[in-house]
Amino acid sequence: MVVVNIKIKRTSFENDKENSYFQTFVYDGDINSSIAFVIEDINSRKDIIDVNGKKSSKINWECGCLQKKCGACGMIINGSPSLACSSFLMDFLDNNNSNNDKVNKNNNINNKNNNINNKNNNINNKNNNINNIDNVNNKNNKKNNNISKTITLEPLSKFPTVNDLIVNKKMVFDSLNEMKLYLESDAKLSKNQHESEYQSSRCLMCGCCLEVCPNFNLENDFNGALSMVNAFKLLIQEKDEKHKEKMMDEYNKHYYAHCGKSLSCNDICPMNIPIEELLNKSNAIAVWKRKID
Ligand code: SF4
Ligand code: SF4
Ligand code: FES
Repeated sequence: MVVVNIKIKRTSFENDKENSYFQTFVYDGDINSSIAFVIEDINSRKDIIDVNGKKSSKINWECGCLQKKCGACGMIINGSPSLACSSFLMDFLDNNNSNNDKVNKNNNINNKNNNINNKNNNINNKNNNINNIDNVNNKNNKKNNNISKTITLEPLSKFPTVNDLIVNKKMVFDSLNEMKLYLESDAKLSKNQHESEYQSSRCLMCGCCLEVCPNFNLENDFNGALSMVNAFKLLIQEKDEKHKEKMMDEYNKHYYAHCGKSLSCNDICPMNIPIEELLNKSNAIAVWKRKID
């Protein structure tokens, strides 16, 4: 069990005037709880009271599946973009707590061993002393597991905030349309690239890769890794050569021309999509006009 401060960026708009502030709530529960569960726990309270005793409104946030399948719950958790339904409190607690868990386990093993020793050998003050020390350690470690820790939740910053943790991702769908990322023919099957097509289709459009991309913003023509990942399978599958040409032109304009290949996007994807591999293959097709299927 842990006691955690959940610090949430609250945003509302009145007559187009933005009002933003941080508000902290206490969560006292299981260390295995997901961030999604924690938000719902706070929202389900009869009276939602923050750490300063102020009565509060429900936290606005989005979720669709709670199973890492829809991408709706993307948000910044302790400074890093992640999905709330697949991020757990224990991921954000410092090593002291997990070390304490380990020490607790070791101490429990010691206690058990000492008990066996006592029974079998009728021993001896030494082991009893060790037992006592271990018991004190256990008590202290239990106390340490209850140390308050703060986890901060903020909306993804590259999209306009609607309220609290909800952002407007309309741009994502506009950008796929702008790059003509749809099929004009039946899909062509590719035996050799099926694994990569599968990876490409696992994208949840959560926007986490856009959050860390130094080159992506809503003002320029760059549509970020999300568009490239989705482009790959369509570039492979499209049989209509004219439409494929158009997709390749748009890919160059809205992806290749702006991507600095820093690969910050590669490590952040909650689906572990092999972004670098898809980037190399999409570039090979759309920029270098190589046949890879
Ligand atoms: S590529 Fe990964 S991080 Fe980017 S939108 Fe898709 S699932 Fe999210
Ligand atoms: S490689 Fe760098 S510039 Fe290109 S999409 Fe990824 S983060 Fe953005
Ligand atoms: S709620 Fe669907 S991915 Fe988190």
